[in-house]
Amino acid sequence: MAKRLGIIGTGYVGLVTGACFAEVGHHVICADNNAGKIAMLHAGGIPIYEPGLEELVRRNVAAGRLRFTQSTAEAVDGSEVIFIAVPTPPQPDGSVDLSFIEAVAREIAASLTGYRIIVDKSTVPVKTAEKVSETIRRYAKTKVDFDVVSNPEFLREGFAVDDLMKPDRIVIGTSGPRPVAAMKEIYAPFHAPVIVTDTSSAELIKHAANSFLALKISYINAVAAVCEAAGANVSEVAHGMGMDERIGRRFLNAGIGFGGSCFPKDLAAFIKISSQLGYDFRLLKEVQSINAEQMDRFVSKVRDALWVLRDKRIGVLGLAFKQNTDDVRQSPALELCRRLLGEGALLRVHDPRAMETARPVLPPGPAVEYVEAAQDVPVGCDALVIATEWPEFASLDWAKARRDMVAPLLFDGRNLLDRAAMESQGFIYRGVGR
Ligand code: UDX
Repeated sequence: MAKRLGIIGTGYVGLVTGACFAEVGHHVICADNNAGKIAMLHAGGIPIYEPGLEELVRRNVAAGRLRFTQSTAEAVDGSEVIFIAVPTPPQPDGSVDLSFIEAVAREIAASLTGYRIIVDKSTVPVKTAEKVSETIRRYAKTKVDFDVVSNPEFLREGFAVDDLMKPDRIVIGTSGPRPVAAMKEIYAPFHAPVIVTDTSSAELIKHAANSFLALKISYINAVAAVCEAAGANVSEVAHGMGMDERIGRRFLNAGIGFGGSCFPKDLAAFIKISSQLGYDFRLLKEVQSINAEQMDRFVSKVRDALWVLRDKRIGVLGLAFKQNTDDVRQSPALELCRRLLGEGALLRVHDPRAMETARPVLPPGPAVEYVEAAQDVPVGCDALVIATEWPEFASLDWAKARRDMVAPLLFDGRNLLDRAAMESQGFIYRGVGR
């Protein structure tokens, strides 16, 4: 049965969740206090790049199932269930800044006139649902009944619409049958397995899952270091490991390390939360160290081959933190650029989607040239680096690339290319762990 849903926050999670809920028939109102964003959405624009999202939003706005507002009160007033999907940015000590969540909880409290279900979708430390409950109770104008649910979101950027429409599981953390029934109804059209648990366990599922995935990547990156020393091939090792169903092949791609707005942040947060609860999560600290070392090792590889980096022209393919996104937050590709620039290299950079988002944080100048076409990046370069796993880089005209370069060094930071094919084109190929 269609429900009236309010979403507070129109970032990655909020906007995609709102659009997908509308797509399955719910009536959704998305609120954001950023006037610019709401004006853009009203004008048919989408503030982020996410495959399939623009069409999804357009279709559901046209069908009258998706609306946008600047007013949290309007979203609260007109909805049975309100989802909080605001940012929870990291603080320098690794803990999470919950001020946006707290502010939204107060705004919701001020607008509550009758029973509502308030759902936390943002990634938050364990016990946040309890704090949200306390805050709403404290700031509510009258004594109103409400329930709080923890319902973490597992979508990946670049695949967000797909992940949301076909989730592996739906986690519902709450106490009491009323919110469980409502949440099950909301998610029924998605036909996914549902786990009903307490709020603390639901909150921990998110941090534990993301930290495990980060661990999996650091594990294969550590194995890659051993493969390099032994002359083995980490892709073959990952393939063989992944065929064990208990392990699985996904998230076993060695590279220049993980980045993005989730893994580094969630890992730091989980370590911090654990320590506040009295457990020193040494294993996860090691995951962080391996990730940092992975970049050091790659930069050394480039330096060892080029001997001197000063005034060397290096082509960098990829700026986004991974494929299929324009997001450069905590991007290993950008960190690599900064490290190379720090040693005096001159960069020619390109990304199929992330040039606009990268420009403010990696300003163009005498040492950084933004190149419109990927195929033109190699021109005049002493070396080329693949920094993001965009599949289209594999289909460049590599024979032409080789001719356009002044030296044939190719560093594949994502193990995207076929070594033998590249060597047959005359490249000196260096991957990660193979
Ligand atoms: C992640 C989780 O996958 C998602 O479930 C959660 O909700 C948010 O965080 P996201 O940050 O969008 O999603 O990207 P993801 O595809 O998980 O990749 C994260 C980073 O790991 C990227 O930098 C990627 O390049 C890197 N990565 C991923 C590897 O280096 N190797 C791999 O095998 C997989």
